[in-house]
Amino acid sequence: MGTLTGMRAPAENAAILLEWYRAMGIDETIAGETRDWYAEIPRAEPSPIGIGADANVNRKPPIRERADLPHRVELAPDRAGVPSNDVMAARELARSARTLNELRALLESFEGCALRATASRLCLSRGSPDAPLMLIGEAPGKDEDRQGQPFVGRAGQLLDRMLAAIGLTEADVYITNIVFWRPPGNRTPSPEEVQACQPFLERQIELIAPKIVVFLGNAAAKQLTGATEGIMKLRGKWLELPGHPGTRAMATLHPAYLLRTPAAKRLAWRDMLAVRAALDAIEGGARP
Ligand code: URA
Repeated sequence: MGTLTGMRAPAENAAILLEWYRAMGIDETIAGETRDWYAEIPRAEPSPIGIGADANVNRKPPIRERADLPHRVELAPDRAGVPSNDVMAARELARSARTLNELRALLESFEGCALRATASRLCLSRGSPDAPLMLIGEAPGKDEDRQGQPFVGRAGQLLDRMLAAIGLTEADVYITNIVFWRPPGNRTPSPEEVQACQPFLERQIELIAPKIVVFLGNAAAKQLTGATEGIMKLRGKWLELPGHPGTRAMATLHPAYLLRTPAAKRLAWRDMLAVRAALDAIEGGARP
C-alpha cells in the first residue's frame, strides 16, 4: 500500500490529483486564473472581548466537532425492538461461523431474508480478508446481482477510482453491503431485510477486524451506528462503531450519489484523504 503524500514526488501527486479530477468529470479549464477551491474560508479575527457580532467566533467548538475525538452520534430512541425469528436464527448462524468461507456457506442456504427469493445470487463481498480498511455500502444492484460481487457497476467503478486516488487497490480493502441480495428493482431494502442480514455483517466485521470502516452512504452509517443525523452532517467525522471497540469509522457520500451530484465529490475527496492519513498513522504505529 503506497502513501499518498509522504513518499511520492510532487509530480506523482499532481498526476494522481489530475486523474481524480478527470474521474470527477472535470475535463476542461474555465478560467485563466487558478483558484484553490479547497481552501478554507478565512474566519473573522475574534474580537478581544468576545461579545457582539464576534461572540460565536470566540467560542470553543463543541466537543463533537473536534477532530481528535470521535463524533457522538444522535441515536434513534429504540433501534432494536423485539427480534424476529429470522433475526434470532441469523444471529445463531452468524455466531457459529469461524471463517469467512463458513459465513458465506451459511448465507448460501440462509432463508431468513426475503431478498434471497428475487435475487439471482448471493453477493457478499470482494477484496482482501486481511485488509485494514472495510467499506460498507447499501445493497447490490443489477451488475452486482449478475456478478455476485459488490460495487462492480458504475458506482463501483467510481469507488475503485476513489480508492486508487489514495493509493489503494482491491487488495487493500474489503467491500460489502448491509444486505447481501439485490432488492427487486433496486428499491430500498426494508428494515426486516436489513435486520436479517445484520448479524452476518457484524460477524464479517469481527472476522476481518478492520482498523477502519467507511460507510458508503447514509443507510450503512445509520444501520451500524444508530445515528439519526443525515449523511451531510455525519460524513467526514470519526465515529465509534458500537460493539467493535478497536475499530474507528467514518461515513462518506455514496458513490452512486456522487455520480448524480458531481459537485459533492470534493467532500468525498476530503473524506478519502482523512482515511488515507489514518491508515498511514496506523502503518507508522500511531493512533489515527
Ligand atoms: N450500491 C451499493 O450500495 N452497493 C453495491 O454493491 C452497488 C451499488
